[in-house]
Amino acid sequence: MGKGVGYGKVILFNEHFVVYGLPAIASAIGSKTTALVERLSGLGAEIVDNRPETPGYKAEKLGEQKESFDRMLKFMGIDTQRNRFRVTLGGDLIAASGVGASAASCAAIARGFSDELALGYSDERVNEVAYEGEKGYHGTPSGIDNTAATYGGLIWYKREANQQRMERMKLKKPVEIVMGNTGIVADTKMVVAGVKERKEKEPDRYAPIFESAARLVQDARTELEAFDLAKVGASMNRNHELLQEIGVSCNELDMLVGLARDCGALGAKMTGTGRGGYMVALTPGPDLQERVAAEIEKKGFQALRTTIGI
Ligand code: MEV
Repeated sequence: MGKGVGYGKVILFNEHFVVYGLPAIASAIGSKTTALVERLSGLGAEIVDNRPETPGYKAEKLGEQKESFDRMLKFMGIDTQRNRFRVTLGGDLIAASGVGASAASCAAIARGFSDELALGYSDERVNEVAYEGEKGYHGTPSGIDNTAATYGGLIWYKREANQQRMERMKLKKPVEIVMGNTGIVADTKMVVAGVKERKEKEPDRYAPIFESAARLVQDARTELEAFDLAKVGASMNRNHELLQEIGVSCNELDMLVGLARDCGALGAKMTGTGRGGYMVALTPGPDLQERVAAEIEKKGFQALRTTIGI
């Protein structure tokens, strides 16, 4: 049996803007997706999905998961006419919007096949396969999710002329965060397409927003590397405003972001696709983390206590 793993992630700065070639910053979180790959007698390939989930997520993504799996099998050159494979997905990463669930499963599947069939995939190859898989979930992925899912750690990411450019960043020490789950399953394809449509319709309004996002992420990198968490938090707040301006937040995300700030989080923003899914709050220290997480839970939402920069 082959085994593989993919890391869950949080985008700290510039989701959506990254689709247009602006840099973004993401970090792996403590949760992972695992894939067990078995070769059985017969032909075909199936996924048994045992991941924990936000209710409705797996059913809603089933068609995309199938397309993604087919793409990866083809890309890896796996022969399902003479072999039969069963992939069992598991791990502690909740299958939900905003935590890189699809990308983590793609990286885990690529590694699982490499292990089972002794393909000797490097991380770079795993990332290429996972990127191909991500296309099944949304047509034009920037590549940040599969890169974070493959390599883990804290990364600076930029898509340049169809190249995926990643640089590792370092935090002085890991920092506690809280991720609040709206429980809403977001459709990445639709939300990304919505930005494109609005951007094309209103170029004059969108240009300065994109310029601000380009400046902000450079400042955020300096602040993270200097471990100036108060400034990082303020930049997260500003990034949330820019994301609101391009129309990818929603009432539930705004409410959780406001709640986290009121409880003392140094900063908070939506993360990932938006229009549902998760928000992230910067909550250094276990006490602040617990205070923010407990308040989110009191309102009836799931809260994930985890860290960045591991
Ligand atoms: C989704 O996790 C991140 C987006 O920026 C899409 C992408 O980068 O492909 C919304």
